[in-house]
Amino acid sequence: MSPRPVALVTGASAGIGRVYAQRLAARGHDLLLVARDGDRLRALCAELTEAHGVQAEALVADLSDDAGIAAVAARVRDEPRLAVLVNNAGFGTRGVIGKADRDGQARMLRLHVQAVHELTQAALPGMRERRRGWIITVASVASWVPAPGNVNYNSTKAYQRMYCEALALELAGSGVHVQAVCPGFTYSEFHDRLGTGRAGLPQWSFLPAERVVDESLAHAAANGGPVLVPGKRWKMLSFVARNFLWVLGPLRQRYRRD
Ligand SMILES: NC(=O)c1ccc[n+]([C@@H]2O[C@H](COP(=O)([O-])OP(=O)(O)OC[C@H]3O[C@@H](n4cnc5c(N)ncnc54)[C@H](OP(=O)(O)O)[C@@H]3O)[C@@H](O)[C@H]2O)c1
Repeated sequence: MSPRPVALVTGASAGIGRVYAQRLAARGHDLLLVARDGDRLRALCAELTEAHGVQAEALVADLSDDAGIAAVAARVRDEPRLAVLVNNAGFGTRGVIGKADRDGQARMLRLHVQAVHELTQAALPGMRERRRGWIITVASVASWVPAPGNVNYNSTKAYQRMYCEALALELAGSGVHVQAVCPGFTYSEFHDRLGTGRAGLPQWSFLPAERVVDESLAHAAANGGPVLVPGKRWKMLSFVARNFLWVLGPLRQRYRRD
C-alpha cells in the first residue's frame, strides 16, 4: 500500500478543483478526484501520476443526486489514509426564485449543502481517530451578499461558510482543521457554464485559480482560521460587505444576472 496521504477533491475536472488536484499531487498526496466528466478526470489522473509519481483515481459521480453522494461518501468513509477533503464542486444559476428552474435549484441545494455535509460527516470519524486532517470547502465572497437573481447560490455559500465556522469550533483541539475559502471572481469555467461569460464583470477583480488555491493551502499550512478570502482586493470588498452592506447596493443591481 502507498504510504502517501490521500486527498479527495470534488469538482476536480476544471477550474479551482483542478488546481487543488495539481497542487496536492505536487505536495505528495495520492488523489481521489470526483466530477461527472470521466474523460477529463482520467486524463488529469494520468497527467498527475506521470508528473508527480502519485496514485490518482477518478471517481465519476454526480454529487447533485443522492446515489452519487452516497457512493462518494462511502469511499470517503473507507479511506484509511484520507488527510485532505476539498469540497469544491459547485455551479451558478440565474433567475429569480419565483421563476427559476425548479430542478436546477434543487440540484444546487444537494450539491452545495447535502453533498458538503455528507462528505464532511463521512470524513470526520477517521480523521478524528488519526487526530489529523484538513476539510476545505470552497464557498464564496457571495456568502456575505444577499443578491436578487442569485438567492440560492448566495444562501448555499453562506451555509457552507457558517458550517465551516461552527465545525471548526466543534473540532478545536482534535487535530482536524476546517477552512471555508471565500473567493471573489476567479478565472475558471464557472461563468461560461452559467451562460453569462465574464463580459460586463469587473475584469480587474478576477483572480487566477492558482492564486486562490495557493493562498488556501498556505493558510492551511500556517494553521490559519476557518475563513479565508484570497486576494487583497477581495479581502477589502468582503470587509465592506460584512460591515457596510448598503455600499454594495448599486453594484448589486449593476451585476444582477436574472
Ligand atoms: N469562479 C468564480 O468566480 C468563483 C467565485 C467564488 C466561488 N466559486 C466556487 O468555486 C467552486 C469551483 O468552481 P469553479 O469556479 O472552479 O467552476 P468550474 O470551472 O465550472 O468547475 C466546477 C467543477 O465542479 C464540477 N461539478 C459541477 N457540478 C457537479 C456535480 N453535480 N457533481 C460533481 N461535480 C460537479 C465540475 O465538473 P463536471 O462538470 O465534470 O461534473 C467542475 O469540475 C464552486 O463551488 C464555485 O461556487 C467560484
